[in-house]
Amino acid sequence: MEWTSLNDIREKYLSFFESKGHLRLPSFSLVPNGDKSLLLINSGMAPMKKYFTGEVTPPRNRVTTCQKCIRTPDIEQVGKTARHGTFFEMLGNFSFGDYFKKEATAWAWEFCTEVLEMPVDKLYVTIYENDDEAYEIWTKQNGVDPSHIVRLGKADNFWEHGSGPCGPCSEIYFDRGEKYGCGSPDCGPGCECDRFTEFWNNVFSQFNNDGNGNYTELAQKNIDTGMGLERLACIMQGVDNIFEVDTVQNT
Ligand code: ALA
Repeated sequence: MEWTSLNDIREKYLSFFESKGHLRLPSFSLVPNGDKSLLLINSGMAPMKKYFTGEVTPPRNRVTTCQKCIRTPDIEQVGKTARHGTFFEMLGNFSFGDYFKKEATAWAWEFCTEVLEMPVDKLYVTIYENDDEAYEIWTKQNGVDPSHIVRLGKADNFWEHGSGPCGPCSEIYFDRGEKYGCGSPDCGPGCECDRFTEFWNNVFSQFNNDGNGNYTELAQKNIDTGMGLERLACIMQGVDNIFEVDTVQNT
């Protein structure tokens, strides 16, 4: 894989998903519009919740964005890890009742291994503990080595933020090597240290959380992706942490 600027990664991602039939939309405002559950936009999906629930018809059922985000639950981690920031950009490809697990995982893998040419032996995939369907797709369809697939529980592999659309998820991690590791024999994807860096989250968004932990099946199955631009730039540029990527250093 080659050193790639943050701006080039953003453009490569958005044009890749345009080539897969997605409509490119600009980032929504950081201030939520008509969503009292959030003070600030924290993810690519947040401004589009009503497209996921089917309450509002999207301009197209495949959309790609680069969304400006502020995420505060992780704020205590900022400055301590290589990968947490307050403000970040989240790339996303979204399906509103259109494609689902097969396409989302195949395109994520194609982008990582063919467009960015990331070495397959450095990539790991996590799936929700009982998601055997995702396991079959990753191993049989996408050809991922079973020894690079890890099943994790709800804390890691079920995505939700307050009320709204949510679901089990499947993440892609990059192994940055032992020098970033904690040395624990249990170190692996999901470990809190900076060796295995999660940079891509595919959420199989098929439930609605009413905000009180009551889940109902959504009328449509959706895909909600979050790809951390600064994290991927950190990996592609081989720098120590997200504050050392080119766009931050050049300011
Ligand atoms: N909404 C998911 C996330 O932010 C993709 O990780």
